Amino acid sequence: MTRQQHLDDLFAFLRIPSISTDSARRDDLQRCASWLAEKFTVSGLRAKLHQTPGHPVVTARNRHRAGRRTVLIYGHYDVQPVDPLTLWRSDPFEPALGAGGVITARGATDNKGQILAHLLGAAESIAADGDLPLNVIFLVEGEEEIGSPHLAEFLRAHRADLACDVVAISDTGMIEPGRGTLTYGLRGIACLEVTVSGPDKDLHSGLFGGAVANPLTVIARLVATLHDAGGRVAISGFYDDVAPLAQWERDAWSKLPLTDTGLLKLTGAPALAPEQGYTALECTWGRPTAELNGLHGGYQGEGSKTVIPADAHAKLSFRLVPDQQPGKILSLAAAHLRKHCPSGVTLTVTPGHSGAAYLLDPAAPFAQAARRALTLAFPGKAPALVREGGSIPIVSDFKKILGVDTLLLGLALPDARIHSPNETFTVENFEAGIRLNQILLRELAR
Ligand code: BES
Ligand code: ZN
Repeated sequence: MTRQQHLDDLFAFLRIPSISTDSARRDDLQRCASWLAEKFTVSGLRAKLHQTPGHPVVTARNRHRAGRRTVLIYGHYDVQPVDPLTLWRSDPFEPALGAGGVITARGATDNKGQILAHLLGAAESIAADGDLPLNVIFLVEGEEEIGSPHLAEFLRAHRADLACDVVAISDTGMIEPGRGTLTYGLRGIACLEVTVSGPDKDLHSGLFGGAVANPLTVIARLVATLHDAGGRVAISGFYDDVAPLAQWERDAWSKLPLTDTGLLKLTGAPALAPEQGYTALECTWGRPTAELNGLHGGYQGEGSKTVIPADAHAKLSFRLVPDQQPGKILSLAAAHLRKHCPSGVTLTVTPGHSGAAYLLDPAAPFAQAARRALTLAFPGKAPALVREGGSIPIVSDFKKILGVDTLLLGLALPDARIHSPNETFTVENFEAGIRLNQILLRELAR
């Protein structure tokens, strides 16, 4: 296959608006899954499209032979929403190839470019050698960006078919262009929605203001109790199980080319606001957080409207570090909110999706194989060993349900703007990813 054919495939994949959280896109997710299954098939793999109560799962495998190792390659074909659309310089679902081989589209890096690099790496190996050097199972889902609500059940139901020795994923970051990166830790996540209800309808704030509690004011005060003045999470018990950062990690991270100044630049914020005693990098890779992701209620339109809103809503998520249990954190958070909620309103706390943090020994045998592959694919520089702040909730289930470790060999550059407007992927990384995946399969087979 030529570079152009690789790109044509990627562009076709990116044109399908597979936003998993948007119920109006259901058919697009089906179409995306079918496109992928077809791509696996023409590449010489046996593909299957599995319906779930949500969006389909696509699996594909080569002919497995006894006595060979088995690797499961996981990725996702769903993408994040695109809003605010006005900030995009081009249509998010019409990939644009710009100067320096930069591709702009939603999902370019997260995760279509990366999972397609896996697929095309396998396709190239099959085209060259007639088969892959080991048993391979692809597992590509359409619900990662909404917390993989049906995937753990899928793993349990297909445990025998998915039996493997190790999992490989390209859905994490690369420390800098041209430097292979093995991510040996991810933060976990636990999500929560909060509703504060007051009157049974929006009320005139002149006629009733002062007589009843304003749900929007209550929720604002409530979410403000989540942190203390120093920015630490104020939920009692929140830090009880937090594994402290090891000195060797802090030393190693301080030598990485990711400085606070560099990080600040990526954010576009006026200043960093790290937890006291930690660098910004340590905060994102190794410290837990409570984040307010959305807060709404009341009148949002032009001008003013003098009402006491009937209800107010907040979306919260917690990023978790090793040893913190998502279920326990959600109960602690709910108890905290109940304790701080005044009378005169009704508080509803609804837990959302969650997943535990992940940590791998970077010296374990399969991790060594991944490091060899990264060294060969990105020559001249030793691979970086990093933890990251993002979450891939199913990784802890791979361990729990399939009993295997996961190798995270990501291709997301620091400025790829995943989840933001104008997400990018570079042709250079796409091609490097295709090579990396061919090498990885060889190294894992050794
Ligand atoms: N690919 C990301 C996770 C990621 C990105 C990890 C960069 C490390 C470095 C993944 O698609 C993602 O965004 N996950 C969500 C999970 C959530 C919706 C359950 C996240 O981290 O917010
Ligand atoms: Zn994502």
